[in-house]
Amino acid sequence: MSKLFDYVDANQKRFNSELFDLLRIPSVSTDSALKGDVRKAALFIEDRLKDAGMEEVRICETKGHPVVLAKHLKAGPDKPTVLIYGHYDVQPPDPLNLWTSPPFEPVEKDGKVYARGASDDKGQAYIHVKAIETWLKSGEELPVNVKVIIEGEEEIGSPNLVPFLEEHKEELSCDMVLVSDTAMFAKDTPSITYGLRGLAYMELEVFGPNRDLHSGVYGGAITNPLNALCEIVAKLKDESGRILIPGFYDDVIDLSEKERDAYSKLPFDEKGWLGSIGVTEAVGEEGYSTLERKSARPTLDMNGMWGGYQGEGAKTVLPAEAGAKISMRLVPNQHPDTISKLFQEYVEKIAPEGVKIKVTAHHGGHPAMTPLDFYGLKAAGKAYHDVYGKEPLFAREGGSIPIVADFEKVLGVNTILMGFGLNTDAIHSPNEHFSLEDFHRGIKTAARFLQVLPEFVK
Ligand code: BES
Ligand code: MN
Ligand code: MN
Repeated sequence: MSKLFDYVDANQKRFNSELFDLLRIPSVSTDSALKGDVRKAALFIEDRLKDAGMEEVRICETKGHPVVLAKHLKAGPDKPTVLIYGHYDVQPPDPLNLWTSPPFEPVEKDGKVYARGASDDKGQAYIHVKAIETWLKSGEELPVNVKVIIEGEEEIGSPNLVPFLEEHKEELSCDMVLVSDTAMFAKDTPSITYGLRGLAYMELEVFGPNRDLHSGVYGGAITNPLNALCEIVAKLKDESGRILIPGFYDDVIDLSEKERDAYSKLPFDEKGWLGSIGVTEAVGEEGYSTLERKSARPTLDMNGMWGGYQGEGAKTVLPAEAGAKISMRLVPNQHPDTISKLFQEYVEKIAPEGVKIKVTAHHGGHPAMTPLDFYGLKAAGKAYHDVYGKEPLFAREGGSIPIVADFEKVLGVNTILMGFGLNTDAIHSPNEHFSLEDFHRGIKTAARFLQVLPEFVK
């Protein structure tokens, strides 16, 4: 153990500077103008996995951005195999004017690195690249078999990764998946995420007259698409926060009493949480705590809405069309396709007369859960304990990593969500950052996990 930890300590500076190099590459997967940069990030990871000394490292082309695939199977077939997953693509950095330093020029401030992707997920994925190097360069053979896939399309819904999993099913066979792409419960509070929400993401367009109209000349006599949109949206939820789409809750598995009990004991600092986002009151579905609402209950939220005049001053106009983007976060056992269909049927039913509507489903994803008695979680617990000096907490997270459900479906294995980020890391927001101390502790925890895992195999 100390040999591994000594190596991490001795190489900390270099590890940081390599992470900074990775963060300089603007690998925004949704921006087709940056396709070459997305690829550059894949090549960077490929090279570093090769430098680490892995047996086989290669880039796999897909219809979209490439997947980096690596293997090191020297432990042999009687030892467990861990498949490490991460993503090297990032969200767009805008709005740029709100960044205090440019998003692709990483800077260190107060022990944190500021850059797009620092926490989600370059910093966290790179933890595993360096944990593998730590094993292979500190003179010992890895006690477990390791496979790695780091993809470049997570932030656009991993459209090519499910076919990739299916095609490489044999090659990717493993006993468990290990992912660092979530947050810890709080600073210095190691946590294992045992559930993720799924997602159904809808676009709703409302069409009225064949052109924008004078709101005095025509107003009052036709359906205004923007008014119609607001009427529809107002009928999606009631005052108690319940979603009104018929059948929406039919497949929801409620939190068990045991789970609610465990949830109520988590050290959630609600005041601090509200303060960190500049909000004075927590509001949501009646009968559930804030923590339950934001991680274990389904949601429906507007993510964007448009129509009509947005410029300076007043323009008297009835817009010809209006639209909205709406996300629904899903919990076990909701199915994104079923929910999209129920949404569409309901919206078509309640749409006011005099307008046409169009409903489009964007990418979605299934929710996922890891059974709390899975032996891999116990090994992870031990690794956290040996680095952070504390047992990890167990909580579900509200975000989504859709591929996790597919690991279970296609490869038949559980995923360990060993996150080292914090909810205050501003992922997807301006000034994203990641604690370099947790980058460092993460490398040790990941290395230690690979060491202790064989002891826990059932
Ligand atoms: N790493 C996040 C998901 C996440 C963040 C899970 C924090 C738990 C805690 C991931 O990169 C992400 O942003 N996922 C998207 C889903 C996707 C389909 C675009 C999300 O949750 O919106
Ligand atoms: Mn992520
Ligand atoms: Mn993300």
